[in-house]
Amino acid sequence: MTAAATNRDQLRVLFATSECAPLVKTGGLADVSAALPAALGALGHDIRILLPGYREVLAQLPHSREIARVAALADVPGARLLLEQTAAGVALIVLDCPELYDRSGGPYQTGAGVDWPDNAMRFGLLSRVAALLGSSVSPLDWQPQVLHCNDWQTGLAPAYLRHAAGARAATLLTVHNLAFQGIFEPRLVAALGLPAESFGADGVEFYGKLSFLKAGLQFADAISTVSPGYAREIQDAALGFGLHGLLSWRKDKLYGILNGIDTSLWNPATDPLIECRYSADTLASKAGNKRALQRRLGLASGPELPLFAVVSRLTEQKGLDWLLEITPQLLALPAQLALLGSGDPQLERGFLALSRSHPQQLSATIGFDEPLAHLIEAGADAFLMPSRFEPCGMNQMYSQRYGTPPVVRSTGGLADTVIDCNPATLADGSASGFVFHDPSARALLAAIERAAGAWRDAAKWRALQRNAMARDFSWAASARRYAGIYAQLAAQR
Ligand code: ADP
Ligand code: GLC
Repeated sequence: MTAAATNRDQLRVLFATSECAPLVKTGGLADVSAALPAALGALGHDIRILLPGYREVLAQLPHSREIARVAALADVPGARLLLEQTAAGVALIVLDCPELYDRSGGPYQTGAGVDWPDNAMRFGLLSRVAALLGSSVSPLDWQPQVLHCNDWQTGLAPAYLRHAAGARAATLLTVHNLAFQGIFEPRLVAALGLPAESFGADGVEFYGKLSFLKAGLQFADAISTVSPGYAREIQDAALGFGLHGLLSWRKDKLYGILNGIDTSLWNPATDPLIECRYSADTLASKAGNKRALQRRLGLASGPELPLFAVVSRLTEQKGLDWLLEITPQLLALPAQLALLGSGDPQLERGFLALSRSHPQQLSATIGFDEPLAHLIEAGADAFLMPSRFEPCGMNQMYSQRYGTPPVVRSTGGLADTVIDCNPATLADGSASGFVFHDPSARALLAAIERAAGAWRDAAKWRALQRNAMARDFSWAASARRYAGIYAQLAAQR
């Protein structure tokens, strides 16, 4: 990274989020919430993260100390603020409220996959405290110039701030996924301590309900999303989830900034979670990871077949129903498939059933397993992401860095980060994966067949792997773009 911000340029930013790796993670938001603040810190900015003190988070932070208390507001309980640091040395403010966060299960759902019934309060508190810390009545002696909110879980913060008296931080809301909106009954407006007049079409109301995300999109000073492609797509009805009108109305303040990846955590040359470390110059060593993965998953290790892989939430978004439909044809290529994920019970059952009838060729691991995700990135030949929509996607970038060309549908951040392998892109050295367009099982299968064909041509495959590994997906450029937006917002305050 180039010169850090001088004191004069240094910005104070509070980054409010509901996940942060490795403390608590369900998806890419956790990766971004760990790596982006660290990259901004490396640029010299004073950035602090606000995160709920879920049971699993507090268990990993035994030495945190109390720095302030927050009083209850309406039905939103009071809480303590604890201070800690992330592994990368970023200040972390943990929001401790045992009645809302001290329980076993995920951050949004019970262990059985049902939304917590008090999610409005759990993320109402997170939003309320984010707003409080950005206001003139903050209990801390540190005041951010910018409050950076992420997704619906912090979407109510700009609404709280809009109704606060006195000087306040500017707000940026980043949309990581428009499909999740935080929609609740209107009676919760009063319970959350919001003024009754906020419940209107130009406020927190969305088709007669209270919407956390709509509130944020309405009231944030600026909005961003995690790829330029998705920033365009969400302004249209097809992928706008009912919010395209508002988003296109706000398009002058809507930015598309591609996520980066943590290039030290996801580095095949140093990754402690894989079997054999390798780089673009020592790609032959990648084979040791394939053998280790096959051994670990009980897949046959010969004759040599292309091994495709998936690491994903198993949901409608990810297009894995198309993969399930064509898995018999994939196996008949012949090829192998390793899947890691959890979610939709029907998809879980479908892949498990096929893995039982084809144990040598197909493995389905249901669950969340970070070390296995790394070994899969290193050991697979190609990675599958047939998403219906994808705001950014992290795994297609991890895959390219690991020399595991991704097969992706042309949508959102996938279209922005993967360059289709064809004679022209092979000739100019840009080909880095396989891109298909139609939202269908057939189009996915055709792309998988193209990938399997290319894999059989060893020289072509090596070229593709090297191109993919040479690409720069680091945070450097995107962190600067965020810093630029923060600076503009702070100057307008
Ligand atoms: P999303 O946030 O929509 O789930 P992303 O591609 O942005 O999709 O990020 C997903 C992140 O979660 C990646 O880091 C991926 O490796 C990880 N991940 C998803 N499912 C699993 C799983 N079952 N086990 C381990 N890691 C997973
Ligand atoms: C969301 C999106 C994913 C994105 C991630 C991080 O979960 O589904 O595409 O990469 O957020 O921004």
